[in-house]
Amino acid sequence: MLRQVLQIGSRRSYSYKSVRRPNASAVSGARNQELQLEQKPASEPQAKGHDKISLSKQLRARILATGPITVAEYMREVLTNPQGGYYMSRDVFGREGDFITSPEISQIFGELVGVWLLNEWRKMGSPTPFQLVELGPGRGTLARDVLKVLTKFKLGAEFTMHMVEVSPYLSVAQAQRFCYKHETLPENSQLPHYQFGTTATGIKAYWHRQLEDVPPGFSLVLAHEFFDALPVHKLQLVNDLWQEVLIDVADVQESQSASQSQIPEFRYVMSKAQTPVSRLFKPVPQETRACLEYSLEAERHVDMLAKRLEQHGGIGLIMDYGHFGDKTDTFRGFKQHALHEPLLEPGTADLTADVDFRHIKHVAETNGHIHCCGPVQQGDFLERMQGSVRLEQLLAHALPENQDIIRSGYEVLTDAKQMGARFKFLAMFPAVLAAHLEKYPVAGFS
Ligand SMILES: C[S@@+](CC[C@H](N)C(=O)[O-])C[C@H]1O[C@@H](n2cnc3c(N)ncnc32)[C@H](O)[C@@H]1O
Repeated sequence: MLRQVLQIGSRRSYSYKSVRRPNASAVSGARNQELQLEQKPASEPQAKGHDKISLSKQLRARILATGPITVAEYMREVLTNPQGGYYMSRDVFGREGDFITSPEISQIFGELVGVWLLNEWRKMGSPTPFQLVELGPGRGTLARDVLKVLTKFKLGAEFTMHMVEVSPYLSVAQAQRFCYKHETLPENSQLPHYQFGTTATGIKAYWHRQLEDVPPGFSLVLAHEFFDALPVHKLQLVNDLWQEVLIDVADVQESQSASQSQIPEFRYVMSKAQTPVSRLFKPVPQETRACLEYSLEAERHVDMLAKRLEQHGGIGLIMDYGHFGDKTDTFRGFKQHALHEPLLEPGTADLTADVDFRHIKHVAETNGHIHCCGPVQQGDFLERMQGSVRLEQLLAHALPENQDIIRSGYEVLTDAKQMGARFKFLAMFPAVLAAHLEKYPVAGFS
């Protein structure tokens, strides 16, 4: 089946833009070139300096008024505050931005994810209609590449697309990526989506602010580099009690010099008493760490996803960088492809924390209704999905001057020293399918 799909893919009529060599900065220019050919979203302004200043001021005023805030509150404000949040009003990806993601590096990534979804959906009896859901679609490149596979294969199935995106700016960029027409609804529309569009092949696409707003129904759910953007709480075990690391303003002298000397206006402090989250936190049974990052938001999303898959059927695929419950301190910023102090100039850099796959798996499996596969390393997944076969097909049809870049793009995705080992794939299925999946193992995971 996989080989069949890949072969059909090789007779594609669409063309691939040339890409640059994927070292950290050049890779970011790769599929970025395509975006530059498209119309920039015109309806939202680019981020302005004063938004950033006001975000810093807002945070400072809030802390001075009500006391130190959690790292999760800080991260949420910095990334998604409607005025000045990092993701809200600009394209942060690629060479001009702060980081590059796998779907932007090589089309092989999105194609193989599409083939995987198609394969597993067929094994489930091709339930129709279904919903293709993506959490945090960025520029919409993964959705576009998956859509190409689904339409190329002429499923004969009805499906709709549902993007869960908090950023007004990126939602427009996504629609421009894979819709031939789209429309944003007025604020007071009362509908569960705020934007809708139609693809060139007539598929309806909807944009939602949160997963709760996606209609019920059999869903194929993708989340690539979404969970790492969800806020984390930093917890520490002190005298056998979980306490929380908070963020306070730095003292006056420090903040006065901050504007000149790049000293953060904020600092970490330990909570004096237990916070609501540190009090409610339940570590997994095998936990040995005395200091960790805990994402209540990730837990909430996995719980919601699990209930949805259990009640209405479907598949979830979480792809992200992360660990299996063994890292303690991964909260960091990224700006222009370099690490950035997260408490400095909030809103001007991406904030992220590695995903705790052990916790996600534990939450998904706890109620006994979800069967998880993985996590497995990205390099292994792509190789098992015959990425090398697809690479050879692409090379056979590529212009000589593009061959190096196509080859090195795939190497970046799969090489254990680059993205191949740090990035992991975790799949979620309704537990009623466990025996079926034992008999017909899930592709890419073994
Ligand atoms: C790191 S980017 C990943 C983009 C894309 N999946 C990729 O790999 O290229 C995170 C995406 O999630 C969106 N996002 C972040 N927090 C969100 C939230 N709480 N709800 C919905 N979308 C969110 C951002 O706007 C952005 O589209």
